[in-house]
Amino acid sequence: MGHADTLPADGTFPENFVWGVATSSFQIEGAAKEDGKGPSIWDSFCRKDGAIADASNGDIACDHYNRSSQDLDLIASLGVDAYRFSVSWPRVRPGGQGPWNTAGLDFYQRLVDGLLARGIKPYLTLNHWDLPDELQARGGWAHRDTVHHFVDYALGLQAKLGDRVANITTHNEPWVMSVLGHETGVFAPGVKSRAVAMQVAHHLLLSHGLALQALRAQRSTAKLGIVLNLSPIYAATPSQADQNNARIEDGRLLRWYMDPLFKGTYPQDVLEFLGQDAPLIETGDMQAISTPMDFMGINYYSRQMASAGQPWDNRQSGLELTDMGWEVFPQGLTELLLRVHRDYPVPPLYVTENGGAFRDCLLDGRVQDERRTAYIAAHIAAVGEAIRQGVDMAGYMVWSLLDNFEWASGYEKRFGIVHVDYATQTRTCKDSALWYREFLRRQKAARTERETVTTGA
Ligand code: FCB
Repeated sequence: MGHADTLPADGTFPENFVWGVATSSFQIEGAAKEDGKGPSIWDSFCRKDGAIADASNGDIACDHYNRSSQDLDLIASLGVDAYRFSVSWPRVRPGGQGPWNTAGLDFYQRLVDGLLARGIKPYLTLNHWDLPDELQARGGWAHRDTVHHFVDYALGLQAKLGDRVANITTHNEPWVMSVLGHETGVFAPGVKSRAVAMQVAHHLLLSHGLALQALRAQRSTAKLGIVLNLSPIYAATPSQADQNNARIEDGRLLRWYMDPLFKGTYPQDVLEFLGQDAPLIETGDMQAISTPMDFMGINYYSRQMASAGQPWDNRQSGLELTDMGWEVFPQGLTELLLRVHRDYPVPPLYVTENGGAFRDCLLDGRVQDERRTAYIAAHIAAVGEAIRQGVDMAGYMVWSLLDNFEWASGYEKRFGIVHVDYATQTRTCKDSALWYREFLRRQKAARTERETVTTGA
């Protein structure tokens, strides 16, 4: 338990700092066709030859849909303040528009009530990538109508659950849906067009802003925001070409989202770079996109290196690599948080995802995942450092509660702090989960001690 001792329990993290664990619907729920759920673009994408490394799919995944009450007990046993999950749009509204599916809505209602009964704050994400297939057939995120269907879906969930969830995220990682889903095509729906990808990014941002306005008009009590995947990007060498490349990659990953959200404009250098591939923007769109948020979430895993020539090979850095081949670079998280805080008028920030895939070994009921624990501890320390330097941080969530369907990598990559034996669906807390629980216990004990001192009780 060595890492717990090295982390501050001294008040670095504010009293109301929210500690959590995160998951997403498609990656854990399974029950792909149960109780009236419609297919999502990920259900279809998994059926394409070669799309998923182990040719798997989300039909069963962690069978969380049928095991949610045991999973709720598991979450509660960790002592977290919050659970970040996503709603499967095709489970609650199979066609993306039209009739709602009561059984699907009831599932999330039970989940939210179960969290509240256990004293855990529900953090709900509306879109963690599993768009209804029927909307994809009508053009998906590339079509402006999807923007309005999304707003309608947001309002429906607000009517059902809005009074009980602490926090609503519109989209998880628009860059991934846009670029990996529509430019490189390695994620669903597997489109390969930069012009389409940029139109998708614009529609995601627009639907975010319009959903915020609509939810507020319905007097939403939940805090509202978005989650972006961000990384600091460094030039592989000091050469001018590599630096230019780093600048444009930073523009496409970070400024393309942060500028419209906080300044109401797209970055000029990226627009120039895109040329004909720039999206169509209608009057009023930028104003809607920059609707103020209550919080913002950042998912952080690693840094990125930019090179104009040969692509950067992570093995050349000498840094530790995770099983995804990603460099372990916790100082990048401090740097990123400071930069976002310096360059934009951001609301309170969360790290909504952070964690590592490692090759685990379950032996005699135990997983000794020392490297994952070290990864998480180092990144929590990096958040602490950002707080000390003045960033307003509201919370930190580990990705992920469970080993799960890791998109194009299938079940080969394990991010969970809880091991899942997919053959039996047995859950086993890895050492990292036990460490996180102990860390949280210490944080809370220190908090209580400080309160006792300040109140003189
Ligand atoms: C993020 C996703 C999440 C998970 C992690 C490893 O991009 O939001 O679903 O797959 O990566």
